[in-house]
Amino acid sequence: SLIPVILAGGKGERFWPLSRRSRPKQFLSLDGSGKSLLQSTADRLLTMAGSWDAVWVVTAAHLADLVREQLPQMPESNLLIEPEGRDTAPAVAWSTLEIARRHGNDAVVGFFPADHWIADEAAFCATLAAAAELAMKESAIVTLGIAPTYPATGYGYIQQGEKQGVYGGDAATPEPGFAAYRVDRFTEKPDRATAEEFLATGKFSWNSGMFVFRAGVTLDQLRIHASEILTPLEESGVAIYPSLPKKSIDYALMEKTQQAYVLPVSFGWDDLGDWNAIDRLMQSDKPNVELATHVGLNTSGALLYASDPEEVIVTLGLEDVVVVRDGKVTLIVKKDRTQDIKQVLKEIQANP
Ligand code: GDD
Ligand code: MG
Repeated sequence: SLIPVILAGGKGERFWPLSRRSRPKQFLSLDGSGKSLLQSTADRLLTMAGSWDAVWVVTAAHLADLVREQLPQMPESNLLIEPEGRDTAPAVAWSTLEIARRHGNDAVVGFFPADHWIADEAAFCATLAAAAELAMKESAIVTLGIAPTYPATGYGYIQQGEKQGVYGGDAATPEPGFAAYRVDRFTEKPDRATAEEFLATGKFSWNSGMFVFRAGVTLDQLRIHASEILTPLEESGVAIYPSLPKKSIDYALMEKTQQAYVLPVSFGWDDLGDWNAIDRLMQSDKPNVELATHVGLNTSGALLYASDPEEVIVTLGLEDVVVVRDGKVTLIVKKDRTQDIKQVLKEIQANP
């Protein structure tokens, strides 16, 4: 079985002004389900894990109460609280150490971002069972690869190598199982030109940001490639956290390890990374995103969102804009600039 850990300490800055430091996007309901992204993630994993006792969350101290409030059934002992967020490499290293301490080095652990939308939950669970089987059998850090559809610059890219085997599936059913491949190269967030080159080869998938492995395998790999993070945690515990380098697991480990494998998956996935993702979801038929009342003239491709459903937004002659109203703040941004909200926030924070 697999012990799921939800990564829930991110800032969600690209969803500002709805997403704030005190309530980042993983605690918001963005998909019209009425559940927050964290709650949807936990529910999905609960189906697979069988009980709340098996579900873990790692988050930053200022968000711990929100996690308790939104996941009241999860035992307090499964909540790992970072003194402050240092990005995902320290979060993965520390959580893996804690799980190894409690369940041993052979425990199979899965890390899950809290900002994903998944269409087919049954297929998702079947894929994870295959990933866990592979992790049990090989010294593998298993990634789940998404077929890329455009040269995105906000994702990791996985170059598929040699086929290694077939996992999961069931001899008694038509389910054929999942092919697993070695990873030849992992490149986090390439620039546009590189992303276009990768796409043209047909050999790359996007990194979904979910990882499955045996605790001991990843601890060994971190010891080799990211000892500046693992060693202080092993020697001094979580108190050392604020002095750890701020690095994501993709840069700290995935770009370096030789033990990465990829399962190409097809359960329907989207990263709710910025406002354009909400737009994509609305084009698909599934979720029912609540919009502001909108009166639009000669307006095409606009995404309008107000936290107060009574709010009326009027646009005239606009194209491809996002308008978000929350309390006293209104954001108006061209759709192709939604990734840059991070920069604007930096300026606002510097000159409040
Ligand atoms: N506990 C904790 N502490 N969680 C964190 C921290 C932290 O300091 N920083 C981020 N997280 C959480 C976020 O809340 C999110 O659920 C997850 O870790 C991933 O972080 P993001 O900041 O959203 O990463 P990303 O989207 O830029 O990139 C990752 O995901 C992509 C797919 O969505 C990478 O793994 C990419 O390679 C991947 O393509
Ligand atoms: Mg993300």
